[in-house]
Amino acid sequence: MNALIAFVSYHGNSKHVAETLAREVTSRGHQVQIVPVLQDQSRNDDWDVLFVCAPVRGGAVVGPARRFAARVARSGATFALAITHGAPLNHFFSPVRSTRKLRRRLENRGMRALSDSLFFRVTETTGPLEEGFEQKLADLADRLA
Ligand SMILES: Cc1cc2nc3c(=O)[nH]c(=O)nc-3n(C[C@H](O)[C@H](O)[C@H](O)COP(=O)(O)O)c2cc1C
Repeated sequence: MNALIAFVSYHGNSKHVAETLAREVTSRGHQVQIVPVLQDQSRNDDWDVLFVCAPVRGGAVVGPARRFAARVARSGATFALAITHGAPLNHFFSPVRSTRKLRRRLENRGMRALSDSLFFRVTETTGPLEEGFEQKLADLADRLA
C-alpha cells in the first residue's frame, strides 16, 4: 500500500508520532510519504491510506490538519487519525469531540476509517508521549492489508 502520513506539530509530539508510525508502516513493506503540513505540503497523490497526526488545541484538532485532510480527502481511500493531547479524555478540552467531527467529515467524503481514532496523551506540552505509544502505532500499522 501507499501511505500518506501528514502531520502538524508545534512542539514535536505529533511529529514523533508520525515518524514512529512511518517506521512501523515501512517495516511492513509499504510505501510511505511524510508531509509536514506546516512546512511543505507538496506530495504525490498516489496513496491509498491517509494518516493524520496532529494535536488538539483549545478543544479542537488544529486547523491546518483539518484543512489539509479535507483538501486531500478522496472517496474510496482509507484513513486514520492519531491525535495528541494534554487533557484527560473526559475533560472539557478533551480531543474526542473534535476528532469525531473530523472523522465524520472524511467519512462523508467517501473515505473509510481504518481503525478507531487513536489518542496519545502527553504529560507536558513538549512531551514525553504516554508510555506504550509505540505499541498503539504498531497495532495501527498491522491493520494495513
Ligand atoms: C496553546 C495550547 C493549547 C492546548 N489545548 C489543548 C486542549 O484543548 N486539549 C488538550 O487535550 N490538550 C491541549 N494542549 C496540549 C497539546 O495537545 C499537546 O501538548 C500536544 O501533544 C502538542 O502536540 P505537538 O507537540 O505536536 O505540537 C494544548 C497545548 C497548547 C500549547
